[in-house]
Amino acid sequence: MESKISTLAKKSLAFIEPYIPGKPAEVLFRERKLAKIVKLASNENPLGPSPAAVKALKKRIYDINRYPEGSAYLLKEKLAGMLKVKSSNIIVGSGSSEIISMTIQSFCEPEDEIIFPHPSFIIYKILAYAFGVRPVPINLNNSDFSYNLDAFFNKITPRTKLIILCNPNNPTGSHIRKTQLERFLRNIPDRILVLSDEAYIEYAEDPDFGSALKWINRKNVIVARTFSKIYGLAGLRIGYGISSEDIVGIMEKIRPPFNTSSCAQHAALAALDDTEFVRKSIENNRKQKQYLLKHLTEIGFRVFPSEANFLFCKSTYNAELLCKELEKRGIIIRPMSGFGIKDNFLRITIGKPSENRLLVKNLKEILGGG
Ligand SMILES: Cc1ncc(COP(=O)(O)O)c(C=O)c1O
Repeated sequence: MESKISTLAKKSLAFIEPYIPGKPAEVLFRERKLAKIVKLASNENPLGPSPAAVKALKKRIYDINRYPEGSAYLLKEKLAGMLKVKSSNIIVGSGSSEIISMTIQSFCEPEDEIIFPHPSFIIYKILAYAFGVRPVPINLNNSDFSYNLDAFFNKITPRTKLIILCNPNNPTGSHIRKTQLERFLRNIPDRILVLSDEAYIEYAEDPDFGSALKWINRKNVIVARTFSKIYGLAGLRIGYGISSEDIVGIMEKIRPPFNTSSCAQHAALAALDDTEFVRKSIENNRKQKQYLLKHLTEIGFRVFPSEANFLFCKSTYNAELLCKELEKRGIIIRPMSGFGIKDNFLRITIGKPSENRLLVKNLKEILGGG
């Protein structure tokens, strides 16, 4: 039965390896019945959701018999004011993943090509195959996983429709600088769209970090952002895209009418005003990044520079075995084999101080370093 149905599936799906998310804490709890589980595997906010968002959510829960206001009017108005764009420059999605998906669906024909970084967020490749578009991954620099945008430029062909930049890049934490981005975008032909996935932008500290936001009316640029990371709302599924009115208008044609829930919209609205929570989240990330950098280096990991809420590391020990050993102790981090990277790379989400201390303690016990 199974083999027959697979012959009916779109042929391009044969190339997709199913997405393996970071193991949910509940799954590990079911498997091992551990009293405490520390999840540092999915780049979530370790401080929890924005308290203001939780309060707003509680208020809205009694309205869930009603359909949401599909266009997310209030949220778009608020974002527009904050970002100094028009409300008509914004489209709201069920997570920024849906913004990426709607971009491909709206603009890419079968046989078109999408250029994106490797290693990077696996969804780009999955969506390319899902919509019958040709994925063209471009390796980041071998030595340090930094971006070489000339390599992206050199891969442009007459079939290139979309270039995705992930900035800061998941899983490597590498980022694109203003001058690099400007030179790249200035030379991009108008027949090509560029999607800048800025899911982690709120964590970026380099003053020279290059957001593509100011390019939305100069080139065919779409910026994708999310409430899943710094605002701590990953479970609610809400994100947004910012682009020219024309591009947003085209994407609106295929946006499912009720793609974001009323709860998610109101929680997101409240989270935007929760500047204290955002400040604390940035501060925790900054301090704990230094803590982990120091201790992981002592243990013998090579830790790559990161502008995000995770660290990309290379271990001398087998990454899969190390992650399994940590799981036995109730700690979940992410081996990078699922991202198509061999050689014992790991991605560790920066947690709360107590979580990071526990991680370091257990790594020292397992590896005997430090
Ligand atoms: C680079 C990148 N973009 C987008 C997303 C998806 O976020 P969302 O929850 O908004 O769909 C993630 C989530 O891990 C990510 O790492």
